Formats: sequence, C-alpha cells, structure tokens
Amino acid sequence: KPRSNSSFFIASKVAVLGAAGGIGQPLSLLLKLNKDVTGLSLYDLRGTPGVAADLSHIPTNSKVTGYTPEKGGLKEALAGVEVVVIPAGVPRKPGMTRDDLFNTNASIVRDLAKGIAEFAPKAKVLIISNPVNSTVPIVAEVLKSKGVYDPKKVFGVTTLDVIRASRFISEVKGTNPAEETVTVVGGHSGHTIVPLISQSGHPDISGETLDALVNRIQFGGDEVVKAKDGAGSATLSMAQAGARFAGSLLKAAKGETVVEPTYVESPLFKDQGVDYFSSKVTLGPEGVKEIHPLGKLNAYEEKLIATALEDLKKNIKKGVDFVAQNP
Ligand code: NAD
Ligand code: LMR
Repeated sequence: KPRSNSSFFIASKVAVLGAAGGIGQPLSLLLKLNKDVTGLSLYDLRGTPGVAADLSHIPTNSKVTGYTPEKGGLKEALAGVEVVVIPAGVPRKPGMTRDDLFNTNASIVRDLAKGIAEFAPKAKVLIISNPVNSTVPIVAEVLKSKGVYDPKKVFGVTTLDVIRASRFISEVKGTNPAEETVTVVGGHSGHTIVPLISQSGHPDISGETLDALVNRIQFGGDEVVKAKDGAGSATLSMAQAGARFAGSLLKAAKGETVVEPTYVESPLFKDQGVDYFSSKVTLGPEGVKEIHPLGKLNAYEEKLIATALEDLKKNIKKGVDFVAQNP
C-alpha cells in the first residue's frame, strides 16, 4: 500500500532556549507530547537539567536533554536541530509596554542568535521573546552579519493573537471557539495587532461591539499581565500557541500544507518602509513557502493597518539600529 507523504519519518529535533521559564516549561511539555518531535533540547541559564529529567519520564519517543551555559551547553543544545524556539527574556509587569522590555531582552536575543548562527545556521528560528516586533529584526540582523540569514526561516510567533481572537469572537457570538478562525495581521503589540473581522465568519460585527472586540484582541496581553499582578504575563496560553506554531512547521517539513499568520520579512509593505509584517503564510519544508496578501479590507481595517504600519516602522528600526550599534 503506498504511504502518504505525511507518514514518512523525519528526524525533527527541537531546541527551546529559555526552557526553564514560565513559557518554556509548559511549551517543552507540549513539545514532548508531539509525536513529530524526535529530540528535545532544553537550554536555560539554570534549571534545565531538572526540567529535562522530569519530562524524560513521559513515554513518548523523543529524547529530552537539558543544557546550561556551562561546558558549551548552547552548542550542544543546538546540535542538529530543525527548529529553535526562543522564549528567553523578561516578561512585563503591570504598567509596562512590551517595548519597555527592549533594553533587557534585545541583548539576550542577540546573543542567542549569535549561537544559532554558529551552531544551527540552517534551523528555523521561532521568536517569542518580546518585543517581537523588534526582536525578529534583531535575529535577522545578527544572522545577516554572520552571512547565514535565510528570510524563509525566521518567524515571530503571533499565534497567541490568533488563538485569542478565535476565543474572544466566540464569546461575542456564543459559538464554539474551536471552529472560529480570525486572521490577525501586522505585528505583536497593541495597535500593531490587526484582526480582520470582515474576513472572519462574522463580518456583521460592527459599531461598539466591533470596537470592543478589536480592542480586546489588541490588548489581550494586558488582561493577563494585570491578573498576574506582577508575577509575569501569559505563559500557558503562550505555550499552547508556541507549540501549535512549532507543530505546524514540523507538519510542513513532512510535506503537509499548513497556513498560519506569522511575523516574517515580508514584501507586503516594503514600499512603505516596513520590512517585517505578519500575514497568512503557507509553510513548507524550507519554512516560508508563500506570503499571502491581506485580501479585501474595509475602510475600518485600512485605518487600523495605517496605524499599525507607523508603529511597526519604529519598532523595526529600533531592532536594526540596536544590532548596528551593539554588534
Ligand atoms: P520567564 O521569566 O518566566 O522565563 C524566561 C526564561 O528565560 C527564564 O527561565 C530565564 O532564565 C531565561 N533566560 C533569560 N536569559 C537567558 C539567556 N541568555 N539564555 C537562556 N535563557 C535565558 O518569562 P516568560 O513568562 O516565560 O516570558 C518570556 C518572554 O516571552 C518574555 O519576553 C515575554 O514578554 C514573552 N512573551 C511573548 C509572547 C508572544 O506572544 N510572543 C507571549 C507571552 C510572553
Ligand atoms: C502576550 O501577548 O500575552 C505577550 O506578548 C505577553 C505580554 O507582555 O502581554
């Protein structure tokens, strides 16, 4: 009997950098449960040997190993990986914007990107660390400076905005969130997050209901930051979102066609000086296969996009300038 493409065995080792943190631990758990993952490398400043020992008792096929910076741990963690997921960095406290994290997280992400350039230059890199609008250009600039940048392989993870949008729209409409799909484009912070409600299953949502829904999707992260009251930001929903996106890339590596919104180097608004943008992307074995245009927008959404582009331009420049000034 002929085997379908998707049943071929492909070695898919995944590394999580920042694996002992609030996102890193549940994300690593979900990746341990994913049958497409054949090896799991957990890297953090500390704590990863314990997390790895714990997860290693779960009877799925992947081998889990924990690494810290001692004894060349980053090199070991990155050896032979197909996908690297980066949730390393500090989270927000109430009253902070994601951009307020830039000063701490920019150098963490830059240094991890240097490791990736050296030890896993062909890996697909998934960036969760905030501010995503700036950390993605930081990774790209580092990889460029080392001569190993492939725009098909660097992704900002915006899946949390997508899963929030389907949940929040279902609360407005009283529907099953699992069956809701809302395309969310732009970037990952405040006004750069643009849900395209006209293209959802509920283009009738309008007026104050639409304003409130869009605002909730744009500022959903703040709800969690406020509720955690100083103890950080979304970790569990983010782990689910990160595991879904990493899983989509692994499915694509096996030949399945998967479409996910993600923040990548994009031609869509380059003529307006915005080099990175999130829109629906068809994923393939090499990473980005096709970047989809936004489709038909209404005047309300055109305005949201115009606002998003202004912020994105500044966020991207900040990341690019950081690497130029602090190589
Ligand atoms: P956390 O503090 O619980 O965990 C972060 C982990 O990173 C810690 O274990 C820390 O030791 C580790 N770390 C720090 N520097 C490191 C380095 N140089 N190398 C390896 N590991 C290092 O934080 P968290 O709640 O897991 O959030 C992590 C990041 O993810 C934050 O920047 C947060 O804003 C971001 N985030 C993004 C999204 C998104 O949608 N993209 C969602 C939620 C959170
Ligand atoms: C989120 O959207 O939950 C994350 O980006 C974390 C944050 O700071 O809100």
